[in-house]
Amino acid sequence: MTTRVLTGITTSGTPHLGNYAGAIRPSIVASRQPGVDAFYFMADYHALIKCDDPLRVARSRLEIAATWLAAGLDHEKVTFYRQSDIPEIPELCWMLNCVTAKGLMNRAHAYKASVDQNTARGVDPDDGITMGLFSYPVLMAADILMFNAHKVPVGRDQIQHLEMARDIAQRFNHLYGGGKDFFVLPEVQIDDEVATLPGLDGRKMSKSYDNTIPLFEGGAKATRAAVMRIVTDSRQPGEPKDAENSHLYVLYRAFAQPAQSAQFRQALEQGMGWGEAKDALCAVIEDELGPMRERYAELMARPERIEDVLQAGAAKARKLATPLMQRLREAVGLRAVAAGGAGKGAKAAQAQSRKARFVSFRDEDGSFRFRLQGADGQEVFLSEPFANPQAAGAAIKRLQQGLRDEDLRHADGVVELNVDGALVGRLPEAALPQLRSALESLAG
Ligand code: TRP
Repeated sequence: MTTRVLTGITTSGTPHLGNYAGAIRPSIVASRQPGVDAFYFMADYHALIKCDDPLRVARSRLEIAATWLAAGLDHEKVTFYRQSDIPEIPELCWMLNCVTAKGLMNRAHAYKASVDQNTARGVDPDDGITMGLFSYPVLMAADILMFNAHKVPVGRDQIQHLEMARDIAQRFNHLYGGGKDFFVLPEVQIDDEVATLPGLDGRKMSKSYDNTIPLFEGGAKATRAAVMRIVTDSRQPGEPKDAENSHLYVLYRAFAQPAQSAQFRQALEQGMGWGEAKDALCAVIEDELGPMRERYAELMARPERIEDVLQAGAAKARKLATPLMQRLREAVGLRAVAAGGAGKGAKAAQAQSRKARFVSFRDEDGSFRFRLQGADGQEVFLSEPFANPQAAGAAIKRLQQGLRDEDLRHADGVVELNVDGALVGRLPEAALPQLRSALESLAG
């Protein structure tokens, strides 16, 4: 059994060291495990929620794609794509919107935080809140459910979104699954081994705190310049440092071997100066990132190659998305009329047409007749001519009530059918059982 692992990165900025160590690096490691079928994508529709600068969104899509590839992602093995290249995702998003309770979205942390901020500022609670932000978790659920991911590795801040995706999946399965489930219920994967890097000021490294260390952009110089700005305490060289509580040590550990880290820690505790420690940190970062940075520069110089990779990834992803979407459209009632699929109405009509029925018609001589067709469309009985449609109609009504023995006259293998003393038609004796069962099916 393979496990499908899926995760996405919002393309609203330039990747930094925290993105690399917290998401990209562990995801690449995971994708190499046997039995793992990895789906990694650029959440560029999500970027539009946070960012209305088109140039920045465009640049970020490219930079993040190049970062994955430079960091060693095997794009042939995994499925690597941009969210916006899969039109089935926004289509699924709409279907999910239609089964998602607004009350569920009201409870989303990100939305509530915005409302709380507005309230604190004394402005309208919904000030600046778009429908994109409000329904962010539904789009995320569509990302995940589209590919029936089993595991979704994310940061702790995304746990609630995964719970919502499960809720929404369950609701859709219940409403439309008819006993079998369309969607796997995804599980959140929080890896405690994965480093959450502190930023320059010690808070979580994040673009919104403006405390990041650049990954590739700006070259080794920019990374070094940022490292030099990491805040430390005022202890001088020679004074023992509290390694366990220093951000520098956390950063160092994220890039060094355990033995190296132990040495670094000991050196700090024995009085290594912060300047020297920063040099050592730059060295371990550079060991890992140096070769990647070169690949990154090559990729960024030839964006058409990245585009090719992403187009191939989209095609691969859509091989799964398109047929699933087809089934989902069918399930909710968005069906082609021609395929006989106009829904339950058409099925009922079909079932009807499979029953026996009377067909009235006008004969060439101007008289009125009817025939009884069996469920297979074959003629079971043909009437004598009637002078007017009313007489034919009365005879049909009478037959619909069933055959009575006194109506039948048997002679020489032929049965004459009479209604109220008048001849309605003749049929071979052997065809009588067919007539009876056709009339019975009409009654039922
Ligand atoms: N919301 C995620 C984040 O900000 C990004 C994301 C979008 C995502 N869609 C996803 C992550 C689907 C995992 C699965 O980190």
